[in-house]
Amino acid sequence: PKSTILQRGAFILLEGCDRTGKSTQAEKLVAALNQRGHQARLWKFPDRTTGIGQMIHGYLAQGKDLNDQTVHLLFSANRWEAMDTLKTHLLQGTTLVVDRYAYSGVAFSAAKGLDLHWCKQPDVGLLAPDVTFFLDMPIEESMKRGGFGDERYEKVALQTKVREIFHALQEPNWQLIDATQAIAAIHDSLVHSSLQVIAAAKDAPLQCNLWA
Ligand code: TMP
Ligand code: MG
Repeated sequence: PKSTILQRGAFILLEGCDRTGKSTQAEKLVAALNQRGHQARLWKFPDRTTGIGQMIHGYLAQGKDLNDQTVHLLFSANRWEAMDTLKTHLLQGTTLVVDRYAYSGVAFSAAKGLDLHWCKQPDVGLLAPDVTFFLDMPIEESMKRGGFGDERYEKVALQTKVREIFHALQEPNWQLIDATQAIAAIHDSLVHSSLQVIAAAKDAPLQCNLWA
């Protein structure tokens, strides 16, 4: 019999400022892909379940202070510690829907005043997403959403800066999504695009060359 070559899953990333609906959309997207017979799973950064993730959570949600460079490197380390697991899932054919990644890492730290070039360096060589859906909306709109202001970075001036830097970090495989649309409309377009991305990624090699 002809040998079958295992087809890899796609790395689908959702990025955006706080309260733009990324987590809602990521969950709905995973469910929709699974329903269509694609193996898909959700991954979230920061992953607050690890030791490093708990340090990040202390900083974001519990008022623990850390200097800006240290926090930046912890967020990056939190991605590196997941790489082997993420690669294994992708190579086994599982599509990953990832809620935030290195673009958040750079956008938030650079918005705080760290040098943009310096910020990118620790994440150079991470797995590169096959597509990035950037959920975009005016900060005045996201501010009105429930829970805004709960965590350290949820402040209007900082989020405005973060949004600008996100725009500057755009790459050819980004798709800009108007996050003020209805949840169902955004969901439909994410499913539609994701199916195309999954089809295109399945025979392509994994790319471990973010910003390289
Ligand atoms: P979350 O709300 O998606 O859990 O993310 C928590 C906060 O951490 C959010 O304000 C974005 C910020 N962040 C960084 O500053 N650097 C990073 O690398 C990541 C992944 C998130
Ligand atoms: Mg948040």
